[in-house]
Order: sequence, then structure tokens, then C-alpha cells
Amino acid sequence: MANKQEDGISALNKDFEKFEGVNKEQTYHLVENKDNDQFDDDFVVKTCDMSEFFNGGEEGKRNFAQNLGTALEEIGFAVLSGHGVDTSLYDQAEAKVKEIFTSTTLEERLKFKAERYGSVNQGYFPIKETTIIHPDLVEGWVFCRRAFDLDNNENFRATDYWPRAEYEAVFREVVLSHEQLILPLMQSILQYLGCDPHLYDEKLKATNFGFRLNYYPAISKADESSGAGRMLGHEDVDLFTLLPSQSVEGLQVYNRANNKWIRLNPDPGTIILNTGDYMQLITNDRLPSTTHRVSKPQEVSMLGKPRITIPMAVYVWEEEILEVLPGLTPVKYEPISAIKFHTGITSKYYGEEYAVDK
Ligand SMILES: [Fe+2]
Repeated sequence: MANKQEDGISALNKDFEKFEGVNKEQTYHLVENKDNDQFDDDFVVKTCDMSEFFNGGEEGKRNFAQNLGTALEEIGFAVLSGHGVDTSLYDQAEAKVKEIFTSTTLEERLKFKAERYGSVNQGYFPIKETTIIHPDLVEGWVFCRRAFDLDNNENFRATDYWPRAEYEAVFREVVLSHEQLILPLMQSILQYLGCDPHLYDEKLKATNFGFRLNYYPAISKADESSGAGRMLGHEDVDLFTLLPSQSVEGLQVYNRANNKWIRLNPDPGTIILNTGDYMQLITNDRLPSTTHRVSKPQEVSMLGKPRITIPMAVYVWEEEILEVLPGLTPVKYEPISAIKFHTGITSKYYGEEYAVDK
């Protein structure tokens, strides 16, 4: 792209179609476009109560699987309540994200500039450099499993990944809590699809993930008039993403059924769950990888506030093969290694040399 500042703001997802790994019929603007976009104010993303899974016996598990599967099949998003995560961790995390991005110097952050390791581009992304295709108004930092002291690795050093070692311990607590949700969610999805609920248990024990800190600074006048969005329209490249509900609005979800955008602002303390490209492939398009983006807040008073989010993308390890689950026919996708699938798609954001062909 010649000029991401100008071209990226008017771009359509279809301009990058050749990178896609699964079927995506939808056409949308990467950034909110007031002249063209329509909004769906009636659609309610379903809330699914995970305490049914945890405390409701076999019947509770069946109910939860049915609710979750129905929500995901319809829109690719669900809101999780009753998840059991101590939500004070989220308040603590929000304060720490702000601290990381505002109390370290840019020079300190740039020492950790993102590089591909395995499938995932890990490390720090300066503002407007989350992708090469749009000047996203966000600073980000991606930490994968190796950035946390989770596996009794005696060579682990937090300062290899974090600007200050103390941050690792804070975010490790969030990651540990979210790990408790991975198998229940995957088992419920598999049950809904009529598969053995435990088919992914081994693949997802101590699996890889991308835990991302997003710091969207207050919107300046120049940013406001530039037309750039906070995060471009995209689909996640993972099995699913866990996103604790955020206090500053802006998340928009694309409804393929009517080509309208849903503004999604669930209650504090809930977790937004959405399915990604790995999931769409293995479910043979039953559970879609749904488009979403982050716009500037509608309310003028919120423009001066930073937005902070901590999504956690759940992956399988690079060498795993992604293939359509048993019984889902006719099979639309050939088996493919996770690394080839993942880097082929994300080379859209990082340049064609990012793709690993193996
Ligand atoms: Fe996303």
C-alpha cells in the first residue's frame, strides 16, 4: 500500500482478500465510515452464564454448550458471565497498562519492538504501527506464553520480555485465571458441534496464547480529523479470544446477516468471547471468525480518555495441524499447519515476508 495514512483510511477488507485463510464473503470498511456504515441497534449479543458449566452438573454443561454454541454460530461473539475470574484483577491490570505505556519512555519500549517468534508477532507496537495497512490509533504490546513464568523454566527472566520485571507477575495472574476457562469453553463448543468434548484437551493444555495490552491514548484534535480508527476492522486469527469488558466504548461487531455494525458494550466484569480463523477452519465455517473494529467513542466527553483493553487470543502450538473436525461435512478445507495458516493470514498486517511456508 502506497500510503497507509490515506489509503488505509478508505480501504476495504476486500483489498486484502488474497491473504485470507477461510471464506469471508463480507465487504466492509476497515474504519468507521459515517457516510456508508449502518448500525444494528437491535441485535443483542447473548450472555452465557459459565456458572452453569462449573456448578450445574451434566445438565448445566449441556445448557451452557447450547447457549454458547448458538450465540457463536449466529454472530461469532458471546458475553460470558459467571466465569469465576476475580474481576479486581482487571482493575489492577488496567492501572498497570496505563503505567506501562505512560511511565516508560518510548526508547525503553522500543527495545522490545515486536518481532515474529513462531507464528506470533510479539513485543511492542508503537502508535500507528500495529499494522502496515492502517494508522491504528493504539499502542500495543503482545506477550505470548514464553513471556510468563508459567512452566518452571529455570532460565526464565521476566526482563527479557517486560520493561520492568514486576509487571510479569501482575499479568500472570490474569493469564492464569483465563487459562481456567480455555478447556471449559472448548469442551462446550465441541459438545455443541456433536464432537467428542475432549478432542482438544491435550492440544490446549499449556498451549500458546497472545496476551495483548492495548493502550488507546486520548484522541487529539489531529487524530479526530484524520479519519483514522482506533483499531482497524479485522478478524482474529485464533481459536477464540477472551476480552474483559472495557470502560470506554468503541468495540463494533459486524453482523454478516444484515451488513450492519453492532456496538458492543457489555456490563463491567463480564468477558467478551469471540471466535477466530482457526475456529472457522476447524468447524468448517459453522462458527464464523467475526469482523470487529474499535472506533472512537461516540460521546465527545470520552474522547479525552484513554481506552485500555487486555485481549487474550488462544492458539494451538505452531506445529499442530488445523483440520476440519470429524463429522462436519462436506469438508471445505485442507489440513494445514498452524504456523503456515497463521503467518499467511497475518502477512497482510506485517508484510509478505512474514509468511512461513511449512
Ligand atoms: Fe480482535
